[in-house]
Amino acid sequence: MNHLLRMLDLGADEILEILDTADQLKYDQKHGIPHKLLAGKTITMIFEKQSTRTRVAFEMGMYQLGGHALFLQDSVSQIGRGEAAEDTARVLSRYCDGIVIRTFDQQEAEQLARYATCPVINAQTDDSHPMQTLADLMTIRERKVVLAGLRVGFIGDGFNVCNSTIVGCLKMGMIVTVACPEGYAPHREALAFAVDYPQQFTLCHDPRQAAKDADVLFTDVWTSMGKESERQARRAAFAGFCLDAPLLELAAPDCMVQHSLPAHKGEEITADVFERHAEEIFDETENRLHVQKAVLSMLLREK
Ligand code: CP
Repeated sequence: MNHLLRMLDLGADEILEILDTADQLKYDQKHGIPHKLLAGKTITMIFEKQSTRTRVAFEMGMYQLGGHALFLQDSVSQIGRGEAAEDTARVLSRYCDGIVIRTFDQQEAEQLARYATCPVINAQTDDSHPMQTLADLMTIRERKVVLAGLRVGFIGDGFNVCNSTIVGCLKMGMIVTVACPEGYAPHREALAFAVDYPQQFTLCHDPRQAAKDADVLFTDVWTSMGKESERQARRAAFAGFCLDAPLLELAAPDCMVQHSLPAHKGEEITADVFERHAEEIFDETENRLHVQKAVLSMLLREK
């Protein structure tokens, strides 16, 4: 593993290695055990979209690992003035040990990785959000112990979180049903991957089908970053795709709820369902820190 740009980059064994490393780092952090695995290492974090969780988790994570993270917002750097990704990659590679990027176009992250001589980590693009899926898998494993065979329902937009959820969960042997409105299907790359898992994957337009007997239910915002001009149209298209109590009643009795956040209560999830599952949702948020530290330590130490 040289870079982490998509869940498709990872084999099942590598996902498990990241989860095991994250579990250990969480234990160390909670018990005050020093784990300065990246002492003296540095990363630059390019953010072309807003972020709370991803940015803070990378920045705090690097500090806890003994390294340093530099936040580079596109609007205050030459990236915002159009400097080419291949040049940015070669510049930053001369200064730091790793590059984190959150941007819209997956191709920009791919181009950075092509030219960088240090690891590049995808902190979210429109196509994929691998850090989120790794944290979700970690959280589910903490509660359910064994991932293989669990029934997962994803209700909502077939966007970045959905794409990574499909790939990550299928690789872990989970059974995935995605329910999204017509016209909001997952990315063709995720669907092409799922073709090889005909017994484990279903795409439908009925949220009740995704909720039925689910061990874990996922949802995500209806209007992702960059789609704000479509908000009204999306509210209409996603009517009926709100994760609410009647949908939860169709699921397994101990069904978990995962939401990558930020949540729009009353849209993709009711306030009631959110609060009833807040503990596991915020565990998932915390686990972003631990999995991102695991990815950093594995990628930067392997250099
Ligand atoms: N879920 C997630 O990526 O959160 P942020 O947008 O706050 O980083």
